[in-house]
Amino acid sequence: MRHVFLAGTACLALCAGAARAEESVEVLHWWTAGGEAAALNVLKEDLAAKGVAWKDMPVAGGSGVQAMTALRARVTAGDPPTAVQMLGFDIREWSEMGVLSNLDTLAGPAGWDKVVPQAIQAFSKYDGHWIAAPVNVHSTNWLWINKAALDKAGGKAPADMDAFFAMLDNFKAQGIVPLAHGGQPWQDGTLWEAVVLSRGGMDFYKKAVLEADPDALSGETMRQVFDDMTRLRGYFDNSFSGRDWNLSSAMVIEGKAGAQEMGDWAKGEFLRAGNVPDKDFVCIRFPGTQGNVLFNSDQFVMFEQKDAGLKDAQLKMAAAVMDPAFQIAFNKVKGSVPARTDVPDTDFDACGKKGMRDLAEAAANGTLAGSLAHGHGQPSSVKEAIFDVVTQQLNGQISTDEALKRLPQAVKAAM
Ligand code: BGC
Repeated sequence: MRHVFLAGTACLALCAGAARAEESVEVLHWWTAGGEAAALNVLKEDLAAKGVAWKDMPVAGGSGVQAMTALRARVTAGDPPTAVQMLGFDIREWSEMGVLSNLDTLAGPAGWDKVVPQAIQAFSKYDGHWIAAPVNVHSTNWLWINKAALDKAGGKAPADMDAFFAMLDNFKAQGIVPLAHGGQPWQDGTLWEAVVLSRGGMDFYKKAVLEADPDALSGETMRQVFDDMTRLRGYFDNSFSGRDWNLSSAMVIEGKAGAQEMGDWAKGEFLRAGNVPDKDFVCIRFPGTQGNVLFNSDQFVMFEQKDAGLKDAQLKMAAAVMDPAFQIAFNKVKGSVPARTDVPDTDFDACGKKGMRDLAEAAANGTLAGSLAHGHGQPSSVKEAIFDVVTQQLNGQISTDEALKRLPQAVKAAM
């Protein structure tokens, strides 16, 4: 017989020390920033209340690059964690290896087919079977602006690249860092894909990034993108190199910087600092990209275990993740929007409501596409090949001409 558990934090404290008889999940994730950890707590507490203890395996590093390295080591050692946070193409790659648990017995009766958007299902299912439970939908083409700085700059949020550069010039004149950026490959890639979308529009993004068309990767629009990247770098501060994304968010929160381009997990940081949308900060689509959404969805996959008894806890976790009330509670804190389309936006703030509206609109208009930088545009080998070129060009190690030459080559070699 299974144990009956104390609910909430009491269980977390006690169950950590309690022994094996209890149900538990060991969860590998990269939610280590303040807003992320706060959102994760919603899940931990929810599971504790359902009698499932949480064994934490956090691996810091935005976009999960380091977490995926840690995962490979665990799987190679024959000891995979029970549950793992994962993005798009990584889910597909692990599915192909046949090591993920099938969630059909849960997903079928619960009707996931009807409530999860097709674009997400494309990654949650493999060979017609559910192998992942989507927690959320994030998107990357956002700009987070300090409201006081924007007011000083005239109060109008920029709708295109020209207006964006004008705003950054104004921030410079105010004596603050115009654009808070962290120089890490995935962050460079996140900025780059937003500029690609802005300059080329959705058709171009699809051609260049999703189809990896060599002409699109080396043509005039891409030249403009790299020229913009060089220009944007002129608005960073001197300590941008290697900085974590949440520290850049903090610069905007504290008014030391004017704006940050980042996915909507940044909102989690603003909220945690007590900031309120439209009062302390403004969220807009990256200039020139309104109407388009580059998405990524955090999903939990369950690894097949030697101990079959763990399956029940895995299914309990997957069920908890897909619960509509949980999707609201979690995503309000995380900055993302629900992965279910049947959840009302009532409880969400202005940015969350906008995120849900934009997502539905983009899905209906064919202007929704996977984010490259966050695992939904290309398999990780291609993603990393693009990051290499983008980072080197942004740091001035290679010229724009060289980047245009190398980009299609690097992508081809990685495919
Ligand atoms: C994940 C987010 C996370 C962000 C920064 C993204 O790839 O989807 O959940 O907050 O990386 O760590």
